Amino acid sequence: MARASQLLPKSSHLTWEAAASSPLCAGTAYRMLVGDRGARMTQGDVVLIWGAAGGLGAYAAQLVRNGGGIAVGVVSSPEKAERAREYGCHAVVDRTEIGLTGDAPADPTVVGKRLGKRIRELVGDDPHIVFEHVGRATFGVSVFVVRRGGTVVTCGSSTGYRHEFDNRYLWMRLKRVIGSHGANLHEQASVARLLDLGLIEPALSVTYTLDEVAEAARLVQTNRHTGKVGVLALAPRAGLGVREKGPVRRGPSEDQAHGNRT
Ligand SMILES: NC(=O)c1ccc[n+]([C@@H]2O[C@H](COP(=O)([O-])OP(=O)(O)OC[C@H]3O[C@@H](n4cnc5c(N)ncnc54)[C@H](OP(=O)(O)O)[C@@H]3O)[C@@H](O)[C@H]2O)c1
Repeated sequence: MARASQLLPKSSHLTWEAAASSPLCAGTAYRMLVGDRGARMTQGDVVLIWGAAGGLGAYAAQLVRNGGGIAVGVVSSPEKAERAREYGCHAVVDRTEIGLTGDAPADPTVVGKRLGKRIRELVGDDPHIVFEHVGRATFGVSVFVVRRGGTVVTCGSSTGYRHEFDNRYLWMRLKRVIGSHGANLHEQASVARLLDLGLIEPALSVTYTLDEVAEAARLVQTNRHTGKVGVLALAPRAGLGVREKGPVRRGPSEDQAHGNRT
């Protein structure tokens, strides 16, 4: 059961499925990157985003771009690289080209050096923040590649939750690891407002009917999806629930006008 105080209004320009597909990953990515308990991203920060064409990654890339950061996405195919750029990544690295194709590399430092070199070539800097959720396969590389004093923020471990990393890089270079889970109501409301304003957009890439749910799950299980995969539960068909044409984007001048009137 949900209390009324736990509910948020649905954006009037979004379909049911687009609105429903956003809160989990948008809220989680917001807390990880922007929240007081997260990495507290600031303007110009270079943010490395694993799985930048996936569910969390799609919102992370948009939030970094919207917040004045420089998003470097990691993906595993040219198609996903294209999606990641559409979501807002300034630069994209295909992990298959740096030898990250499965479980954790035998020596994360070797792969970390390869990735670090690539990132510096692309954006001229080491990452201030690494956006982690892949876990075992990437965590050692994340701790290595984040800059001195930088932050690895994690909310998951899809490839295994027993991580190995070389602690010398963490302590000698004064790095931090932050754990993050979901979002509180304030963070969720903040990200819902960004969706409302059209400053970030739902990352729904495909919608299935309820009797096709197994195919939807298989698509995600085999890592062939991008963004979010929708499944209709109560809506009889896709595309319903829209009450207004576009987002309620209010420019600064309009805000100013409201201010002047009071
Ligand atoms: N704690 C929380 O509040 C919270 C909230 C939401 C999600 N999560 C967790 O976060 C994780 C990701 O969720 P999601 O919705 O973003 O999943 P997703 O849509 O499946 O995206 C995960 C991405 O990880 C990348 N990936 C998969 N295997 C990899 C590997 N071996 N090395 C490097 N990258 C790999 C894939 O990108 P490429 O193949 O293109 O590299 C994929 O797009 C899950 O474990 C989920 O449970 C936690």
